[in-house]
Amino acid sequence: MKAFIVDRYGKDVPLRAGELPAPVPSEHEVLISVHAAGINPIDSKIKAGEFKLILPFKAPFVLGRDLAGVVTAVGSSVRRFAPGDEVYASLGKANTGAFAELVAVNEDEVALKPAGLSMAEAAALPMVTLTAWQALVEKADVRPGDRVLIHAGSGGVGSIAIQLAKHLGTHVATTTSTGNVDWVRALGADEVIDYRTQDFATMLHDYDVVLDPLSGETLEKSVRVVRPGGLVIGINGPPDPAFAGQLGKPLLRPVMALLSRRIRRLARRNRVTYSFLFMRADGSQLREIAALADAGVLRPVIDRVFDFTDTVAALKYVDTGRAKGKVVISKTDAKKGQPGSS
Ligand SMILES: NC(=O)c1ccc[n+]([C@@H]2O[C@H](COP(=O)([O-])OP(=O)(O)OC[C@H]3O[C@@H](n4cnc5c(N)ncnc54)[C@H](OP(=O)(O)O)[C@@H]3O)[C@@H](O)[C@H]2O)c1
Repeated sequence: MKAFIVDRYGKDVPLRAGELPAPVPSEHEVLISVHAAGINPIDSKIKAGEFKLILPFKAPFVLGRDLAGVVTAVGSSVRRFAPGDEVYASLGKANTGAFAELVAVNEDEVALKPAGLSMAEAAALPMVTLTAWQALVEKADVRPGDRVLIHAGSGGVGSIAIQLAKHLGTHVATTTSTGNVDWVRALGADEVIDYRTQDFATMLHDYDVVLDPLSGETLEKSVRVVRPGGLVIGINGPPDPAFAGQLGKPLLRPVMALLSRRIRRLARRNRVTYSFLFMRADGSQLREIAALADAGVLRPVIDRVFDFTDTVAALKYVDTGRAKGKVVISKTDAKKGQPGSS
């Protein structure tokens, strides 16, 4: 099968288009013919080796975590899927390989794709929507009327998190650059702060929750806009000690405590909680997300669709950090999307 392969870790090591034997699904896996795959910033970070400690893939391996496609074979214990099913998934910690013609995925990480969406649209959803879901529903347990600040509202995570937060009945503020202000307002944001000309930390206060995909100064300033007892969720780090437990690597606790010492101290001083989130692959949540997509509540936001053969260019585009919504590679419907179209 054709695949995009990481031969060794390295930022400047090229991603190689090559041929590999087709994977064979194990007992609990389904084999999926990939029709479209979503690109995420983590793909380049994995290739660079930045996630070796958390996601230790042994090179050579196939890159890519989000996909939509058709089941072609199932392992002996698979009960929920059959060949011919149209599905979508984000791959779990131990797996990689969406940028290929075929990938084997544990059935617990797979769901039937939203029926009303194309393969490219479905491939735009899994990682960013699971992240938004696990932040707003699981971790923060937001309630109607809560005030939520979502940074980088025009990004892959931000553009879907705004829609989910509005569906959950919250008041949503977001940050973006001048050119995207009207665009994120159209996604549903109630308050939009242009980070090029305005300082959110002096404009917002008494928020219940912040979802931060940026880290650094933005994360540190975020503790100041949250009410005492509120929650700041970082998804771009730094990892906190609890994350070592989730990984099942308690020996990493001191390392993660050190990495997040400064932000946890700032949070404590402001009587708020800082919590790191790392998305968990979850087929049952993808089923709920599919229902919301089919009901028109969540709309995939696609910036560009590249052809499968242009996967390297698609990754470079995401690496610019300027995508508006998601970037997808497709075997069938590559086209230059209109910003905000799906
Ligand atoms: N922990 C997890 O499980 C998890 C899951 C998903 C993603 N992530 C991480 O979250 C981060 C974001 O992911 P993504 O898919 O949303 O990335 P993305 O789509 O590549 O984000 C690009 C967007 O970020 C915006 N942006 C950049 N700097 C900004 C700033 N200072 N203030 C406000 N907006 C800014 C840009 O808007 P402008 O052009 O207007 O600046 C652009 O639209 C990445 O680091 C990713 O690795 C983590």
